[in-house]
Amino acid sequence: MSEKKIIFSGIQPTGTFTLGNYIGAVRNWAKLQEEYNCIYSIVDMHAITVRQDPVKLRQHSLEAYALIMACGIDPEKSVAFIQSHAPTHAMLNWILACSTQFGELSRMTQFKDKAAKHSDDVNAGLFTYPVLMAADILGYNADLVPVGVDQKQHLELARNVAQRFNQKYGEFFTVPDAYIPEVGAKVMSLQEPTKKMSKSDANPNACIFILDDKDTIIRKFRRAVTDSDSEIVFKEGKDGINNLITIYSAVTGKSFEETEKEFAGKGYGDFKTAVGEAVSDHLAPVREKFAQLMSDKAYLKDCYTKGAEKAMRISGKVVSKAYRKVGFVDSH
Ligand code: TYM
Repeated sequence: MSEKKIIFSGIQPTGTFTLGNYIGAVRNWAKLQEEYNCIYSIVDMHAITVRQDPVKLRQHSLEAYALIMACGIDPEKSVAFIQSHAPTHAMLNWILACSTQFGELSRMTQFKDKAAKHSDDVNAGLFTYPVLMAADILGYNADLVPVGVDQKQHLELARNVAQRFNQKYGEFFTVPDAYIPEVGAKVMSLQEPTKKMSKSDANPNACIFILDDKDTIIRKFRRAVTDSDSEIVFKEGKDGINNLITIYSAVTGKSFEETEKEFAGKGYGDFKTAVGEAVSDHLAPVREKFAQLMSDKAYLKDCYTKGAEKAMRISGKVVSKAYRKVGFVDSH
């Protein structure tokens, strides 16, 4: 690879992406392709840390791959692949697990949340999930990791693991930095705007899926929970309106001030409809491109197969060197 900095990021194939996934992460992945060497993965191995229906997981992984392409990832420019197709991730996972402490994994808030939510299946994979995430990132010596705010703690752990390995075995891994967008790093639920928008929300009106049709998107925005005030301004305590302003600004490119001016004197109802329309218009090309890609499975397969070859070529070298560093005997 050239002098350009390296970017790695991943997304779980657990159903259609939410507007949070899109604004917080995936659309930024597309923007970064010109300036960086980008590597993007559909992380199916992470997905099985909670119970999945195998038929659905396979389908969701293909859809997620098509979706990142529909959101602008160009498999000619970037490396785009499915995680389980590159066994280097699992190989490095073990090496890094031996440089990760039980205590630090126990402090991960996502583990605590998921363990509480899936209390009948608190498996070891769920616990060591952040180690595999570190392997994803360090296996490409990524400099930057574009993620939403909720992944910050995992990224901090990846940095600690890299530093610990480097201390034990000598400088080797690049210590990655998080790359968190200024606007939209945490898109909130439309029904409980103090909580992040999440696909697992039981209330279907809380979350916009990027393949939702126009009517559905507008309906969900019109039902968004706001406050009893009537001014469209970004201000502490107005979580619902702040979230809508953030979303509007993220999809139109207008600043918060411009948005406030545009809607000065208008009511919440008008504003909600405008946000819904702007989001739907913005996502219309994604919906179209997705349908087109899903109708050509052979092309998709060609893309993800080549993507995995490229991913293996890069991470294979890193893993071989890491094996040597820790003292494993060369196999050839
Ligand atoms: P995942 O699949 O939960 O989410 C994918 C990306 O979407 C971001 N995101 C959000 N951003 C803003 N507002 C929201 N409401 C919102 N919800 C989700 C996430 O921050 C993430 O960037 N562990 C990761 C996947 C992963 C990964 C990696 C990421 C595995 N290996 C290596 C980076 C590097 C996850 O579960 O993301």
